[in-house]
Amino acid sequence: MRYYLTTPIYYVNSSPHIGHAYTTIAADALVRHHKQRGDETFFLTGTDENASKVYRVAEERGLDPKAYVDEIVEQWKELPKLVDAEYDFFIRTSDEGHHRVVQEFLQRIYDNGDIYQDVYSGLYCVQCEEFKSEADLVDGLCAEHGVAPERIEETNWFFRLSAYQEKLLELYDQRPDFVLPRFRYNEARSFIAGGLEDFSVSRAGQPWGIPIPWDPDQVTYVWVDALINYLSALSYAREGEDLREKFWPHAHHLLGKDILRFHCVYWPALLLSAGFEVPQQLFVHGWLLLDDRKISKSLGNVVDPLDLVDVYGSDAVRFWALRSVSFGQDGNASLDGLHERYERELGNDLGNLVSRTTAMIARYRDGRIAPGEPNDELKALLDGLRVKLVDRFDAWDLTGALEDAWEVVRWLNRHVEATAPWQLAKDDTRAAELDAVLYDLGDGLRALAVALSPFVPRTAPQILAALRQPVDVRLDRISYGLTPASDGIEAAAPLFPRVDQPTAAA
Ligand code: MSP
Repeated sequence: MRYYLTTPIYYVNSSPHIGHAYTTIAADALVRHHKQRGDETFFLTGTDENASKVYRVAEERGLDPKAYVDEIVEQWKELPKLVDAEYDFFIRTSDEGHHRVVQEFLQRIYDNGDIYQDVYSGLYCVQCEEFKSEADLVDGLCAEHGVAPERIEETNWFFRLSAYQEKLLELYDQRPDFVLPRFRYNEARSFIAGGLEDFSVSRAGQPWGIPIPWDPDQVTYVWVDALINYLSALSYAREGEDLREKFWPHAHHLLGKDILRFHCVYWPALLLSAGFEVPQQLFVHGWLLLDDRKISKSLGNVVDPLDLVDVYGSDAVRFWALRSVSFGQDGNASLDGLHERYERELGNDLGNLVSRTTAMIARYRDGRIAPGEPNDELKALLDGLRVKLVDRFDAWDLTGALEDAWEVVRWLNRHVEATAPWQLAKDDTRAAELDAVLYDLGDGLRALAVALSPFVPRTAPQILAALRQPVDVRLDRISYGLTPASDGIEAAAPLFPRVDQPTAAA
């Protein structure tokens, strides 16, 4: 199977915060899972650089826009590295290859008769980079940003979105899993059913952006330019290859709920007009709130992912982000919660289990484990986990997948308490029982490391190394009894050493 996953491309008018890291972390976990399944994957992320708000920030700082984006993009390239997201290509919409494909794309919709010239007279919110109607506003202000939109009047090029209403409804009816979760599908579908208005695909009077091929005095509306990144990147990510042949339309777009309309309505319509297939699936996730509040500069609760990774490490931040909030819903996370999960779940439940298991194998069996009498309960548990994970990831239910794996963590901890290997070790007549328990703990942890590897990609190989097992995280390794007789297991160092909770991380 081919699996092409995208994150939204991030605006470079400011620096990354933990909310952006959230999307990137989720995307990386999905791709790692699909790799485990043996899928051929491609993971795209990058930056949205042609926005008016980017141009304005550069102007405010007295910088040439290109110099500004070249500088700030470095911070955005650090973001995936910081959270261990292994992307295949980082697109910048200032890339020449992107400009070329956007212009070709626009020319196709123009040639198909879906473009006409008209006067746009109305409102525009530069923060959203979106044309607004009076109905979108609350007390005359943008509902999202609380700022007054600008009134503009300019002659623009319009896209006949209205002509695609029926086709989009057909698409939604034929493909009930086109957009997930279901309530987001319903939201998108009812927006379409409510009637679609044509929208402007160009902006006048801005010297920054991608010129309209047939009217170079205008630049492409930034959202149209940005959406096309999902297609353009494939055309030039690998020199001499057009990956569109391989990965389009196997595209899976991950996005936050604030950009649903662009992705679930405008994007498929633009693709249909240009003669491309629509993506395979879109998943719309909710907001990560911090202490019940939206993350925003004006609220002063913007958390730099770097600060958290510095203290807790990237695996803990990934774990916390995906475990605290049911993926797809809005949800609350807190820095206290991060500390607490680090100590209780990662430190005690998982870390201690690895320390205890390896220490007991070292102490009671001189570092050796070997298969004995099979444990049917553990076997059923691991077989069940392997099957459940596939369903969970197919439904993009990352939080559910993590919980399924954690059930095995809890089972293994209960198994240690129930069998009390330290008692068995005192009684020579129970040597076979002790062998079996230590093997089950070792083998269970090995399988668990594989199951957890999309979430904690640094810790998983450490667990496998502590058990002297190869770093092989293919999904079918989540199965009982695959640990051969192994020697040389030593008491492992703590995986999640104690840290002091920073007092003012925010
Ligand atoms: N540039 C556009 C996307 C173009 S894609 C063709 C954009 N950029 S953004 O930087 O503002 O946001 C990028 C993504 O980050 C969005 O999916 C948004 O939902 C996500 N998030 C930003 N803050 C977030 C949270 N606090 N919580 C969850 N996701 C958040 O929109």
